[in-house]
Amino acid sequence: MARKIVAGNWKMNKLADEAQDLFNDVLKGADKLNCEIVICPPALYLQGFNNISKTDVNVGAQNVSAYVKGAYTGEFSAEMLRSLSIPYCIVGHSERRSLFGETDSEINEKIKNLLFNHISPIFCCGETLDQREIGIEKDVVKDQIIKALEGLKSSQIGSIVIAYEPVWAIGTGVTASTEQAQEMHAYIRKVLLEKYGEIAFEIPLLYGGSCKPSNARELFACKDIDGGLIGGASLEAASFLSIANSFS
Ligand code: 13P
Repeated sequence: MARKIVAGNWKMNKLADEAQDLFNDVLKGADKLNCEIVICPPALYLQGFNNISKTDVNVGAQNVSAYVKGAYTGEFSAEMLRSLSIPYCIVGHSERRSLFGETDSEINEKIKNLLFNHISPIFCCGETLDQREIGIEKDVVKDQIIKALEGLKSSQIGSIVIAYEPVWAIGTGVTASTEQAQEMHAYIRKVLLEKYGEIAFEIPLLYGGSCKPSNARELFACKDIDGGLIGGASLEAASFLSIANSFS
């Protein structure tokens, strides 16, 4: 069975002192949870947080360069994350695809570089509203997964976390229904099973998109939903911890 994870994607929020307070509050409240927590703050705060993180509260980057090293001003590499012992990194978030033009092949490079450096990618996939309305949401998600994981061996797949984040649910307050979310998660599991075999059951599949304390319990009770990737509700310790406490 896949392990349970609740990850907070803070995106570009929180000044240094606010971020430190929030991280401390999450650490304080995380003792009695029966899931792993991953906090993905702005990259500037990663090193400081990682130094004080503890078992079952890990940190992750929100992005990484597709390049290995060299003259790429403003970028940082997977190897640099490894040198700081950062265990996770989000890849392929829809905001990076739509606002920064990130392509499937760049996402594939990033995932390969991360795995080479023993960092677990939290790979995001999900369809737009238009794509769902014309009934191609499963094809879109399958295509994203196949392209992102191209060239990987079954032995590498076990280190990956996948987050299904329907674009129409991100930051909108509209959550996928439990039926919609479970249906897509089961489909993702099937795609992984067909391509990589039994290891598919070990891969945590997280739901993301307006997940909040009021709907987390119902979502996390679904057979193929192993946790969440939380945006807005991760910016307050109480709501984030309440979500992380939503496994039955
Ligand atoms: P919200 O929880 O704010 O909808 O954001 C989800 C998300 O994008 C997490 O990566």
